[in-house]
Amino acid sequence: MKPTDLLAAAAAVRRSAHAPYSKYLVGAALLAEDGSVITGCNVENASYGLTMCAERVAIGTAVASGRTTFKAIAIVADEGPAPFPCGACRQVLAEFCGPDMPVYIAGAGYTDGYETTTLGALLPHAFKMG
Ligand code: THU
Repeated sequence: MKPTDLLAAAAAVRRSAHAPYSKYLVGAALLAEDGSVITGCNVENASYGLTMCAERVAIGTAVASGRTTFKAIAIVADEGPAPFPCGACRQVLAEFCGPDMPVYIAGAGYTDGYETTTLGALLPHAFKMG
């Protein structure tokens, strides 16, 4: 699957985001090892601290359906600075994804361009047990 296909999936689910407080809509799309795509959007709450990030919603949805190994993730948000995942999401991704996993990041107009990095570059020395 091309990065732009994964970015398109993230851009599509971004429209489902529940973000009445920040008005910052985020979509994430994981490419699973079996080739399937699992998406997630941010889900905010009136009790702000309960907000769930798009990346963690995608991971939870994937794990709940038995998919726990991934080949890439795409994240799309509003125009503005590239929506690099927050620190908490990096650590959650590191639970299931290796340091070489590509991370594609773009504003909503992702067809204008996107950034590519890796999970290891975003989170060196991820915390691991065992
Ligand atoms: N957000 C994400 O969905 N992913 C991140 O990695 C960082 C932030 C969401 C949470 C909240 O709904 C909004 O962006 C503003 O913080």
